[in-house]
Amino acid sequence: MSPTPVTFTSPTSPASYSWEATDEEVSARYGVPVERVVRFDLNTSPAPPDLAARVLAEGRFETPLSEYAPSDYRRLVAAAAARYGVGTDEIIVGAGADEILDIVGKVYLPPGSAAVVPTPSYAMYRVITEQRGATVDAVPRLSAAEGYAIDVPAVRAAARTAAVVWLCSPNNPTALPEPDGAIETLLGGLAEDAASDGREPTIVVLDEAYAEFVDRSLVGLRDSHANLIVARTASKAYGLAGLRVGFGIARPEVIARLNPFRPPGSVSTVSVTVVTEALLDPTAAAANIARVVAERERLRTELSALGWSVGPSVTNFVLADLGSVHRAAAVADGLLRNGLVPRTFPAGHPLADHLRLTVRAPEENDRLIEAARGLADGAPA
Ligand SMILES: Cc1ncc(COP(=O)(O)O)c(C=O)c1O
Repeated sequence: MSPTPVTFTSPTSPASYSWEATDEEVSARYGVPVERVVRFDLNTSPAPPDLAARVLAEGRFETPLSEYAPSDYRRLVAAAAARYGVGTDEIIVGAGADEILDIVGKVYLPPGSAAVVPTPSYAMYRVITEQRGATVDAVPRLSAAEGYAIDVPAVRAAARTAAVVWLCSPNNPTALPEPDGAIETLLGGLAEDAASDGREPTIVVLDEAYAEFVDRSLVGLRDSHANLIVARTASKAYGLAGLRVGFGIARPEVIARLNPFRPPGSVSTVSVTVVTEALLDPTAAAANIARVVAERERLRTELSALGWSVGPSVTNFVLADLGSVHRAAAVADGLLRNGLVPRTFPAGHPLADHLRLTVRAPEENDRLIEAARGLADGAPA
């Protein structure tokens, strides 16, 4: 059984995209009981913060379950503004960072326009761009030895004819942040080019979905760069992916342009309540981050001891170089037969010989290490 393919067509460049296989599909295809399936492919956190269970048990939500959440998400916006150190008029709420990216696409990517994607990066940038009938200008990142950094001059040159530049730091799937100063330099270059061309600077989306893991954000750059839109999420460090809450942060005039394009109530009153509490609690993400970082380094050490080449990571996932497309496919198959779902990359992708693995709970990581050991020994995994 294969995952349900979802196909989009657009006037300029038809895109096709398959959502990931569900646990049930993995179970049916690999003959593993569904409760044994573990997702190493989705970069979620192993557990929600403790406060989530308390808030749900109390059952006192922002509004009664029979009612919509307030359409301005007032308390959630105030909590996010305090957490991110920005004004309440500098935030837009969405159903996950994905909805923020989607809204940016609706506003800034008219059909026939172009978007720059330093490649490889998060797959949704291409999907969203092509859904709008715009085209992707893929600019290769530098080598693994150079930390997969963006090629600043090449991105700057491509941006001259683009409506949007999609940046991601730390980057998914390479697990590393941009080098210090690279994004500032790029923004400065885009401003210069725009001034000499007599137009507004190209919009730059900076996806900071994993920012809490490095405890750094470039959100402050919006003061000097009105073309910057930063995306944040409750899905990763906060361990609340199932609640679907994300934020866009930009200057008030940019938020005012984005807001009319968001649905009035795509975030549920339950999600609003729990994420508000999580943002107000300075310890909510910290415990998860500490656990993930410790497990990440254990996973890297154990897999490296088996001869795997696992790159450095500042995120909640690691990227393993399996050396060849064939071996990456064989290892993925061996893991899947154990119910362990890695993120694979399709033929032709610059990381087709790699696997991306989310850091999960210790006992789940143990299963991954054991399965990898079985494959390394040549024993049936
Ligand atoms: C870079 C990046 N941005 C956005 C998302 C999606 O975040 P959300 O769950 O908030 O929609 C992901 C999820 O994997 C991601 O890796």
